[in-house]
Amino acid sequence: MSASQTRAREAERGAPRPASAPVLEVRDVTVDFGGVRALSAVSLNVPGSARVGLVGPNGAGKTTLFQVISGFLVPDKGSVILDGRDVTAAAPHVRARLGLARTFQVPERFETMTVAEQLTLAHRIHAERRRMWSDLVSLRGWRPGSPGELERVGEIIELLGLQPFARREVQGLPVGIAKLIEVGCALISRPRVLLLDEPSAGLDTKETMEFARAIDRAAEQEHVAVVLVEHDLDLVLNMAQLVYVLDFGRLIAAGSPEEIRADEAVQAAYLGTASVTVEQAAQ
Ligand SMILES: Nc1ncnc2c1ncn2[C@@H]1O[C@H](COP(=O)(O)OP(=O)(O)O)[C@@H](O)[C@H]1O
Ligand SMILES: [Mg+2]
Repeated sequence: MSASQTRAREAERGAPRPASAPVLEVRDVTVDFGGVRALSAVSLNVPGSARVGLVGPNGAGKTTLFQVISGFLVPDKGSVILDGRDVTAAAPHVRARLGLARTFQVPERFETMTVAEQLTLAHRIHAERRRMWSDLVSLRGWRPGSPGELERVGEIIELLGLQPFARREVQGLPVGIAKLIEVGCALISRPRVLLLDEPSAGLDTKETMEFARAIDRAAEQEHVAVVLVEHDLDLVLNMAQLVYVLDFGRLIAAGSPEEIRADEAVQAAYLGTASVTVEQAAQ
């Protein structure tokens, strides 16, 4: 994105914030499901344009935190701050307008669209602030992309290396490509934060590496902060600059990949030998 586009977007959203301010903050979030405390006073910061990993073994609370951040679950305690605004109670589509994007499954009934059409539709949905994909397709009929739409779609296709697939129908494409299309649909509206829940699920090693490279390029060129929610510790350690580790709903470690690699509480959680919190480990 050009500097002027960035400024225009900042002007639209209010006063510019310093680059070092976190674009997303989770403060003291607690979630109970009946007797199960899925998250216990979890706090984290996502600096602008950073790649942040959120990892933990199965049942650690990752998906619950993802739901809290994206707005599908209101926490029992704590808050979510997006670009300086408290969005704890805001609906998912309101957060999307404020610059929070998440990947979503490509709806099956649109599988006969080409990759380029799918991306055009995602762009249109955001630009026209319509929430239902079906409104844009079935009620009005399909309109070919405008020059502005085609330019943005072309940028995203190139960024994600989707050129060979642009004119192909979405159905039948390999799962690794389908995931990139999902990322493309999320990125096309120029979000400030992109949330990815378990992006490596269903991918083989080669596809995972290609996915990681595409996310790297996207974070750099689109100036988007990426929050990766993953159980695959190695993937997160390779991709993220800042890593938070959850275990049994508690944050047990936070730091650079090097710090996390050396962290005994993390090793214990991942080896399943013991579950210790940072406080316990320090004792
Ligand atoms: N809707 C729900 N109702 C009851 N318990 C839930 C619900 N969602 C998650 N849990 C419980 O909360 C804990 C955290 O789950 P989850 O966030 O899915 O973990 P993760 O994504 O790290 O595997 C688990 O003990 C899980 O069983
Ligand atoms: Mg999960």
